[in-house]
Amino acid sequence: MLKSSWLRLAPALGEVLLLTKASNTKRRQLVVGNWKMNGDLRENAALLKAITAGWQGQHGADVVICPPFPYIAQTVDALSGSSIMTGAQTVSEQEKGAYTGEVSAAMLADLNCKFVIIGHNERRRMQRESDQQVAEKFVQTQRVGLIPILCVGESLDDREAGKHLQTIARQLDAVFERVGKAVFSDAVLAYEPVWAVGTGKTATPAQAEEVHQFMRAQLGELGEKVRILYGGSVKAHNAEQLFALADIDGALLGGASLDADEFLAICKAAE
Ligand code: 13P
Repeated sequence: MLKSSWLRLAPALGEVLLLTKASNTKRRQLVVGNWKMNGDLRENAALLKAITAGWQGQHGADVVICPPFPYIAQTVDALSGSSIMTGAQTVSEQEKGAYTGEVSAAMLADLNCKFVIIGHNERRRMQRESDQQVAEKFVQTQRVGLIPILCVGESLDDREAGKHLQTIARQLDAVFERVGKAVFSDAVLAYEPVWAVGTGKTATPAQAEEVHQFMRAQLGELGEKVRILYGGSVKAHNAEQLFALADIDGALLGGASLDADEFLAICKAAE
């Protein structure tokens, strides 16, 4: 970890203050692996075995693995006895009933899942999930005691038009309007710029910090308490630099979560 220090950025990067973590930072770092639509029983078993073997005992960071729905039971089972928790990649916005193909929050809780990724950009874009649907999923998740990991992030067009903060504000406001802000004490936020997901492009520390600071400001009083993860091409080689930043409390990983060595290296960098 870098030592605590203030760095003023070049004016060209704007007026964001890059503050590296002070040793008394109270938020515990969290690393979440989103397997997306990858894996099978055999591959998962090998991956989970390698990850649990490399993450035994006490640790200074929390770790969550989010497999596809059919493998949640397998993951919960493989992780029992380890401190690593299981999450889902999405959930229905409905409580129960005639919704063919959907999976309810209560079903996830029943399987001992602890977290649910909500509003991932791939679902917002490919499944056309609206801000309002995302807000309902947030409600369903918390209703059964699961922890939502609410994802927000701008497209490349928004970023290039200088509208990235407007997009983030809109995505957050839809949930604030539905549930208020206080319930975010039991939630996690994730900033995933769409242009950085799966592209090998990572937001610069200044770009990430600007948005994370903005998100904390939007949360009001809870701003300093809520964990805000960064996601988008985080790998072992860039994790430490991102984790050293004051407002980044861990990572939401895609590709890097499918390789045990890479994943464990990032988890260790978060401690
Ligand atoms: P990559 O780490 O593969 O860029 O994916 C990030 C992501 O979408 C995690 O949810």
